Amino acid sequence: MTQATNIHWHEGDLTRAERWERLGTRGGTVWFTGLSASGKSTIASALEQELVHRGRVAYRLDGDNIRHGLNRNLGFSAEDRAENIRRIGEVAKLFADAGAIAICSFISPYARDRDAVRKLHADGGLSFIEVFADTPIDVCERRDPKGLYKKARAGQLKGFTGIDDPYEAPRAAELVLKPGDEGVEACVGRVLRVLAGAGVIDRA
Ligand code: ADX
Repeated sequence: MTQATNIHWHEGDLTRAERWERLGTRGGTVWFTGLSASGKSTIASALEQELVHRGRVAYRLDGDNIRHGLNRNLGFSAEDRAENIRRIGEVAKLFADAGAIAICSFISPYARDRDAVRKLHADGGLSFIEVFADTPIDVCERRDPKGLYKKARAGQLKGFTGIDDPYEAPRAAELVLKPGDEGVEACVGRVLRVLAGAGVIDRA
């Protein structure tokens, strides 16, 4: 890939403050991280539904789905996972800047990749809420809705997160959920409280 040169940032006529004010909105990013089958996508989906029912523009970006389109040229090497997260981080930032709530649900196993997305948002003055779906691997493996843990154990799937590929748990996530113990509704309620605390929504 060659790097583009002679490119210049073009500021529009509208500031973010004016956009949000006129549209009556405030953007931000909620980032779910956790093992496959940890419950992150289920909670992300319920959160998206709740926010939209409240009249907010919320949109879910999900690993399995994004890998069918935007990131279909990426695999699961550390390098490809980093690029996966980098692109989604940039997309989420655009959504948030536009005034939407971007709800991202990716294993995102490497702390440095998640931290880079956090920094991208911080530098852009945008809320970034990291939510760790902290489900023990044995629970994820028992659930195994796609049969991938079974394949990985059988050696038919190499480099599967949690089996023979690393997962670095967040150390300073805004929220740690235990989807195995708490219900989906309770988890959504806890995310809403953090969103309210960050001023992205008015009330939990
Ligand atoms: S990430 O590591 O780059 O953040 P992402 O969330 O996009 O992963 O995709 C994870 C999904 O891809 C899993 O839920 C699973 O369905 C599928 N998958 C296929 N191969 C792998 C693998 N080697 N490791 C993890 N997930 C995999």
